Amino acid sequence: MPTGRLSGPILGIESSCDETACAVLDADGRILAEAVLSQEAEHAPYGGVVPEIAARAHLAHLPDLVRRVMGQAGVGYAELGGVAASAGPGLIGGLIVGTGVAKGIALAHGTPFVAVNHLEAHALTVRLPGLVEDGVAFPYLLLLVSGGHCQCVAVDGVGRYRKLGGTVDDAAGEAFDKVGKLLGLGWPGGPALERLASGGDGARYAFPRPMKGRDNCDFSFSGLKTAVAMEVSRQPPGPLPHQVAADIAASFQRAVAEVLAERTGRAIAMMGGASDLLVVAGGVAANATIRAALEIEAARHGYRMVAPPIRLCTDNAVMVAWAALERLRLGWSDGLDFAPRPRWPLDAPDMIGERLVTG
Ligand code: KG4
Ligand code: ZN
Repeated sequence: MPTGRLSGPILGIESSCDETACAVLDADGRILAEAVLSQEAEHAPYGGVVPEIAARAHLAHLPDLVRRVMGQAGVGYAELGGVAASAGPGLIGGLIVGTGVAKGIALAHGTPFVAVNHLEAHALTVRLPGLVEDGVAFPYLLLLVSGGHCQCVAVDGVGRYRKLGGTVDDAAGEAFDKVGKLLGLGWPGGPALERLASGGDGARYAFPRPMKGRDNCDFSFSGLKTAVAMEVSRQPPGPLPHQVAADIAASFQRAVAEVLAERTGRAIAMMGGASDLLVVAGGVAANATIRAALEIEAARHGYRMVAPPIRLCTDNAVMVAWAALERLRLGWSDGLDFAPRPRWPLDAPDMIGERLVTG
């Protein structure tokens, strides 16, 4: 299997959900330039991501963003050693836009193209040079907690993933967003809910701890959200008093933190001593209460917890370029006929190796 250094820098593109992002890394993985455009304001009036609006916004902003980031990096297109885009899982309109732009550059300049699995990008981010002292070796346990994903994955190597468990309904971030909406916090709910919860009593409401104690590491959050909705509906008509809202927020947050920690403890047990490292990624990793609960749980099992900085935990293109770089180092690139995939589990059979042109 060929391994080694790339022939030039790598351009990464992210457009699988509501962030339009580009990044250029040098052949060793150092960040030369990066930019993320959030579409939060475009989707906020609808209380969630509207796929058609997302696709149009990616189309409107991506070409300029690529030019700008390439300019900032001081890299010419002909110098690139690879060009990559998130090719799934995600919203198909955005995936088509991102992969289309990447393939166009690859075709025009004869550059290797990499169709990056977005979940693989989250999974490998922590291996970016300089992020964790002394680097991160395989295997490790990944807890991915964002608005779209909630799963525990054994990361055995590039392309080598074993999903240990995942949510049977909502993702953790989705639960924050839905409860945020119930509390009148706008969208996305996570950051606002954490702020509100900081002045609340997390012991006031005994919300359920779904899945706690089950002999696996699956998650479920929709019952917890329903319990919050019922509590809200029991309150007298009119706006919720601030302290009630804060106590509900804190009690909900405590329930999520407790469940995430307990479920992650199960996942650590399922690793069977193969590793001593827990990596947490995704927007929910920004939550201080949740991070603290995970850190304590990891330590209880003799594990160390690491999380990339928040800007690399949430959707970004640095992680896409890095995942592509890891694949290119193994000699793996993809055909220009690779069709983006709205669903693409990490343990799909073609995660290992080159995905050849089939057309
Ligand atoms: O990773 P991300 O930016 O996008 C994807 O969903 O892929 O994650 C966004 C999610 C949203 O659901 C948001 O409410 C949640 O992460 N989030 C938080 C916090 N910051 C963001 N949830 C809880 N506490 C936070 N501080
Ligand atoms: Zn993501």
